[in-house]
Amino acid sequence: MRRALVAGNWKLNGSLATIQPLIKTILAGIERIQQAEIAVCPPYIYLPAVQAMLMGSPIAVGAQDVSDQDSGAFTGEVSAPMLRDFGVRYCIVGHSERRHIYGENDALTARKFAAARRSELWPILCVGELLEEREQGNTEQVVARQLDAVIHLEGISAFRDAVIAYEPVWAIGTGKTATPEQAQAVHAFIRQRLAAQDKRIAENVRILYGGSVKADNASKLFSQPDVDGGLIGGASLKSGEFLAICGAA
Ligand code: 13P
Repeated sequence: MRRALVAGNWKLNGSLATIQPLIKTILAGIERIQQAEIAVCPPYIYLPAVQAMLMGSPIAVGAQDVSDQDSGAFTGEVSAPMLRDFGVRYCIVGHSERRHIYGENDALTARKFAAARRSELWPILCVGELLEEREQGNTEQVVARQLDAVIHLEGISAFRDAVIAYEPVWAIGTGKTATPEQAQAVHAFIRQRLAAQDKRIAENVRILYGGSVKADNASKLFSQPDVDGGLIGGASLKSGEFLAICGAA
């Protein structure tokens, strides 16, 4: 039985003034939510403050990215051992904004995934197609390529301690959510692709959906058999909305 995970990806948002009330109201509402595991992924610089506020709570902390290197002359990077130092459990790798705005390719994403695992962080590997790739009928091909890059480097067993997030790029921040059927179809494809190598790992790995998840569409998406929760952008910055999404999982 897979336990649902709802992770809030704050992206490049928040300030010292806003994170405290946000975390406070989430903490106040979280007791009612028993079923799903909850995580928040603030910008790096707020990780220590958020971690301190969440100490002793059931909410996990995640990072939005990680270096592929553990230490050394890599200006501007933050490594997995450093994240571990601050009690971080998850880290997003290969988010479409990293891939498409900052030009990160499959090989770098796979190395970041490997770096996270070396430090016993759980990577949340994002995969997903652009609108034109979907329109050309290439969704499965793109998602397969993104998955295979990681399997090639790390082996299928890496997915024992990892999460996958299917985030169609055309649904991110656009208000255009994939229909529950569209999401389920790709989630089932991902699970089948992993099952071809290891049925047990495929059965146990959590596959989250991300892309304009809101309080009013979450329960339909999360009720699909292969959708195990969500990776939430904009709605994770509003405590009421985020709590309602967590409650739907
Ligand atoms: P939105 O929920 O704002 O569409 O963002 C989704 C996302 O990119 C989560 O990682």
